[in-house]
Amino acid sequence: MGKSGSGKSTLLSLISGIIKPDSGDITLNAVSYKTLQESQLNDFRATHIGFVFQNFHLVSYLNALENVMLPAKVCAIPNPKEKAIALLESVGLAHRLAHLPSELSGGEKQRVAIARALIHNPKIILADEPSGNLDEETGNAVMDMLFELIKTNGTTLILVTHSKDIAKRCEKTYELSQGNLT
Ligand SMILES: Nc1ncnc2c1ncn2[C@@H]1O[C@H](COP(=O)(O)OP(=O)(O)OP(=O)(O)O)[C@@H](O)[C@H]1O
Ligand SMILES: [Mg+2]
Repeated sequence: MGKSGSGKSTLLSLISGIIKPDSGDITLNAVSYKTLQESQLNDFRATHIGFVFQNFHLVSYLNALENVMLPAKVCAIPNPKEKAIALLESVGLAHRLAHLPSELSGGEKQRVAIARALIHNPKIILADEPSGNLDEETGNAVMDMLFELIKTNGTTLILVTHSKDIAKRCEKTYELSQGNLT
C-alpha cells in the first residue's frame, strides 16, 4: 500500500527486473539480478514471475484461450492448451474460450489475465491493483479467485492495492512512504 506516486508500481517493476535500480541489488529465489545477463534475466522472469495489471493487458487480437497460452511462446509449458483450458475453467470462463477481449466484461478480462499469469506455475505473482478498474462486487469476486488459485498452486502473491479490505486478506502488509517500506 502507499499513496499515489509513492513508487508501488516502480517497486514491482524492480522486482520483475524490468527496470534496474540506481543502486543496490535485487535477489529473488537466492538469485542476484546483478549476476544475470539481460537474456538470463528475461528467462528468469519468464520462468518465475507472473503478472496481473490494473488494465488487464490482454492481446486484443487473441481470444481468451490464446491469451492464456501466450506465455508458452517464451517458456516451456507441457500441454499448454489443456492447462489453459483447465485454468479458464477454474476461473469460470469455460464458455468464453473463443471470445476476444473486446467481447469480454472487465471482470472476465481480469480472470483471463489471472489464468494467463498462472499458466507457467510461477513462484511469484506480481499484481498491480488488479481490482482497481472493477466495481467493488466484481473486484471482490476476482480477488477471491486470485487468492484461491495462489493457495491451490502454492504461489506467492505480491499485491499492490489501495483497498484496506483487500490488504487485510494478505498475510503481511507493507506501506511504501518516502522511499521506505515499513
Ligand atoms: N519511467 C519513469 N521515469 C521517471 N519517473 C517515473 C517513471 N515511472 C514513474 N515515475 C515516477 O515515480 C514515482 C512513482 O511512480 P509509481 O508509478 O511507482 O507510483 P505508484 O505508487 O504506483 O502510484 P499509483 O498508486 O498512482 O499507481 C512517480 O512520481 C512517477 O511520476
Ligand atoms: Mg501504480
